[in-house]
Amino acid sequence: MDFKKMAEELVSKMTIEEKVAQMQQLSENATPKELFETFKKDGKIGSYLHVLGKDTGEFLESAAQTELKIPPIFGIDAIHGHAFLKQATIFPSQLAMACTWEEGVLEKMGEITADEVAADGLNWVFSPVLCLGRDLRWGRVDETFGEDAELCARLGAAIIRGYQKSGKVAACAKHYLAYGEATGGRDAYDIEITERKAREIFLKPFKAAVDEGCLTFMTAYGSIDGEPLTISKRYLTEILKEEFGFDGFVVTDWKNFWCLITGQKTFENMDEACVEGVEAGNDMSMNSYEFYGALIQAVKEGRIAQEVIDNAVRRILSVKARLGLLDEEKTPAPPKECIGCKAHQAYNYEVSVKSAVLLKNNGVLPLKQAKKIAVLGPNADDLPAQYGDWTYTSHRPKDEAIGIEKENEYTLLKGIQEVYKDSEIVYAKGCSVLGSETSAESDLWMQEALELAKGADAVIVAIGDVHAQNGEEQDRAKLVLSGRQNELIKRVKELGKQVIAVLINGKPLELGEMEKYADAVIEAFNTGDMGGLALANLIKGKENFSGKLPISFPYDSAATPCYYNQYEYWHGNKYVDVPKGSPYPFGFGLSYNRYTYGEATLSKTQAKIGDKIELRIPLTNEGDRQGEEIVQLYYKDKVCKTLTPVRTLLDFKKVSLSPKQTCEVSFVIDTNKLGYYDRNCNYQVDEGEFTFFVSGDGKTFKTVNVLLVK
Ligand code: GLC
Repeated sequence: MDFKKMAEELVSKMTIEEKVAQMQQLSENATPKELFETFKKDGKIGSYLHVLGKDTGEFLESAAQTELKIPPIFGIDAIHGHAFLKQATIFPSQLAMACTWEEGVLEKMGEITADEVAADGLNWVFSPVLCLGRDLRWGRVDETFGEDAELCARLGAAIIRGYQKSGKVAACAKHYLAYGEATGGRDAYDIEITERKAREIFLKPFKAAVDEGCLTFMTAYGSIDGEPLTISKRYLTEILKEEFGFDGFVVTDWKNFWCLITGQKTFENMDEACVEGVEAGNDMSMNSYEFYGALIQAVKEGRIAQEVIDNAVRRILSVKARLGLLDEEKTPAPPKECIGCKAHQAYNYEVSVKSAVLLKNNGVLPLKQAKKIAVLGPNADDLPAQYGDWTYTSHRPKDEAIGIEKENEYTLLKGIQEVYKDSEIVYAKGCSVLGSETSAESDLWMQEALELAKGADAVIVAIGDVHAQNGEEQDRAKLVLSGRQNELIKRVKELGKQVIAVLINGKPLELGEMEKYADAVIEAFNTGDMGGLALANLIKGKENFSGKLPISFPYDSAATPCYYNQYEYWHGNKYVDVPKGSPYPFGFGLSYNRYTYGEATLSKTQAKIGDKIELRIPLTNEGDRQGEEIVQLYYKDKVCKTLTPVRTLLDFKKVSLSPKQTCEVSFVIDTNKLGYYDRNCNYQVDEGEFTFFVSGDGKTFKTVNVLLVK
């Protein structure tokens, strides 16, 4: 099928109004009601967002009444499952799933999500987020694959592969570019990076998305060095479309065109803004409904060339053609019964098990049995807190979910009740996350929890954060366990009890205070429908931990950013009042097994640039149970013309080991990948000595050197 030809044939028949209508995307809640209804009846708008399948009928009928019968493409934030629907399979957050370091998991999750979105009659997911979670104060770290560009690139390509596998759903690489890097960790703010830094770090996952054939990109709200991304011809056209060869279409983020005038104050009005934004490379405007009229006027007045409009419409229509939206005979969507089905939830359970990270265990885990278990804490039985952002609990009208039964939704409390059927399970909140209750209530809740702890043989405390502390426009300066959460852990410990702490939170927090009193710490991040059951089986030891952190935790909020791949300090090396680095760094995660690494060896200790070399390392499972170890390979070019990080992730592998098994893990290293960008943005691989680091915890390393020659 020649999709470009199909698009071209349509463009040749379209009026300017029909063309520009394809470039307008609308949501009902951001468009004046009367105007929205007019557009809806007219049937020519190119895309709608946040419309659920049950409401697509009228839009499709209006489009079918038009001469060209071009249906709208329906976009939705199905970013960890089609989670705007209560009955759908709600997966762990992107950050949680990144703890699996498993491309196959992200690909399968993408495929399942796409099937459920398509079964619901929609065709476009605004996912994956390929920004990096390097500044933990930013409100949307939970939506990222963590802090590292290589891990993000590999997992991002995998989820896109899954989303687009059926050919019925388009993925969307967002938010282009470097949204999470804004100064101060502020949401949708200015980003102080150079193009060299962009190429060294931030463009890498987006280039991987282009190479994976991602059909759409979303322009970030922010600005780079004072230039709004929305009007950056350099990034949107010269790099993304021309250099990288992206041939899908670019949609702006929410109201970006309008923001050029109001927030960023770079234009007096939409007349100019829409011209420069489209010429820069935006093919579709998300909302900013004035865009439609202003762009038509600009064409009529000759302020923008017709060809620029035609190119944008060609891109949009070729994507619609690839999704089968222009076919007269539509191929059937997956059956609606697949939405939230047992098979999907069974896979969701596996994802949840692999997403959990064991941060500390002094032997209290596994908790094989206990007569009476006290499950305490504000996040032990709070599904909205467990889900995190972009679900029916955070982004849909409350009444939409009323009456919808769902058997597969496990808070930690429900999971413990199911797994420890022979134990007595008691529960109390102990405190709220935000500490918003009255002091009388607060003391009552605390006392109630402590009383239950006193009489229990085992105590599990679920803490973390809530949706109000994450998300768009919800950045945090103090990454603490808010309210009386630390106190709850401390006072339970002071009763002489062993404390199993479970973190259910959007992003890394300061754990120092809590960690002093906890005998075990499990990080679940925002785990989805099956999270509570997965956590309960991990606590009991029916499952083993394999997750590793994709993001570093801070000693102190003020000591951020704390990502691992920083330049070596050369003048003093840390704050005087906070330790250097991270208590739980990128790549860290424990298991019920202990894995030991032998010495790393190379097939060559001297190689030509361009050669492939093999690194081998023995790995032993000292434990008495089956397990999976994520082996990480980093590299460092010892001398470069520009600063390079202390080490950079080059590759990673998840290895399955039987009890007491030793295997040999090998990596084939393409020496062309050991380069960096010089001051003129030229990618180069230097001659000289390189060090390779192999690690299973981001803290200890086996090293080996190679000399590269021309
Ligand atoms: C939001 C977000 C973006 C999302 C879009 C549509 O403002 O920035 O990630 O996909 O609008 O909901």
